[in-house]
Amino acid sequence: ACRTVSRRFLQTEATPPQRVPEFAFAFDIDGVLVRSSDPLPRAHKSLSYLQSQRIPFILLTNGGGKHESERVDDLSRKLKVPLDTSMFIQSHTPFADMDEYKDKAILVVGGDEDRCRVVAEKYGFKTVVTPGDILAAYPAVWPFSQHLLPYYRRFTRPLPAPIDPSSPSTSLKIDAIFVYNDPRDWGLDTQVIKDVLLSKQGILGTLSEKNGDPSLPNKGYQQDGQPPLYFSNPDLLWAAKYHLPRLGQGGFRAALKGVWADLTGGEKNGVELKKIVMGKPHRPTYEFAEKRLISHRKHLLRQYDGKVGHLKRVYMVGDNPASDILGGNSYRSPYGTDWVSVLVQTGVYVEGTEPAYRPRKIVGDVWDAVCWAVAQEG
Ligand code: G3P
Ligand code: MG
Repeated sequence: ACRTVSRRFLQTEATPPQRVPEFAFAFDIDGVLVRSSDPLPRAHKSLSYLQSQRIPFILLTNGGGKHESERVDDLSRKLKVPLDTSMFIQSHTPFADMDEYKDKAILVVGGDEDRCRVVAEKYGFKTVVTPGDILAAYPAVWPFSQHLLPYYRRFTRPLPAPIDPSSPSTSLKIDAIFVYNDPRDWGLDTQVIKDVLLSKQGILGTLSEKNGDPSLPNKGYQQDGQPPLYFSNPDLLWAAKYHLPRLGQGGFRAALKGVWADLTGGEKNGVELKKIVMGKPHRPTYEFAEKRLISHRKHLLRQYDGKVGHLKRVYMVGDNPASDILGGNSYRSPYGTDWVSVLVQTGVYVEGTEPAYRPRKIVGDVWDAVCWAVAQEG
């Protein structure tokens, strides 16, 4: 156990606890608990220790690409710690609550094969199209992925409507674009997103006459009823297996913004790409996570019949200053909970450098973070 922890946190079903923990943890995943599919050395020890002490924690990741239930099973196996979806928030989890699009047609971008489509359908979205579906139906839509057609044809589905510029009223219309996970084919996905954003009201195969019209305010781009564009994860970089950080979904967004700027008028007078970016460090993700943590804590400490008192502090343990630390530092909880950012050196952040956003504490790894936090609680 952590050297400094006293037995008063040691609570089991049998022995009456002497003190209900008023603090909890939010753990980032990539770079803190795992590096891609490899668990980090002291991740198991950290989570199983907290479970033995009945100190609540949630996993809060900008990753995704699988349904929460599947990812949680994977992580439980890898980390050898029982986990469930009540303590797990990934980049696109908040998309599940966007009921206004459930009966509309959405374009889902990113992830392996069409696994993100499957996630969206499990969330309740009824009509889900992927860029792969469009390429398989109309290979000419993106000339440079013809070599990938055999890959796509393994899992793509027929489009719910054709792309027929001569008959816009019966053509495929996209009502919202969601980037669920890192695109595997940046070229195709960029082309298809561009086609939707410059179309007439999201009708594929059309071109809004408003786009490019300099006489219109903001040149009319994305002002002709085109669908909104949601990104689930802002990370420009993330800690994968390779020893140096890899480009994340934020890298794809930056590339798309570059193409968009040139399409809409070049470096100088290009038009800002309208989009909604979710995920850490943005407030909606932390609000969503805090609500989950509070209800998970109540369930975990249910033997106190709801008299668990107020959650005073959440230790946000992460490896990426731009998402975990910035998010933890800037989040102001409506419940008055203090979010304390703790930066580990096992991921994106390089030991000895000045982090772009200063954490409350810099430690070696996740076990050091747990011991430091528990010692703070005295
Ligand atoms: O795609 C995952 C990457 O962006 C970082 O994930 O767990 O470090 O928030 P995580
Ligand atoms: Mg991370």
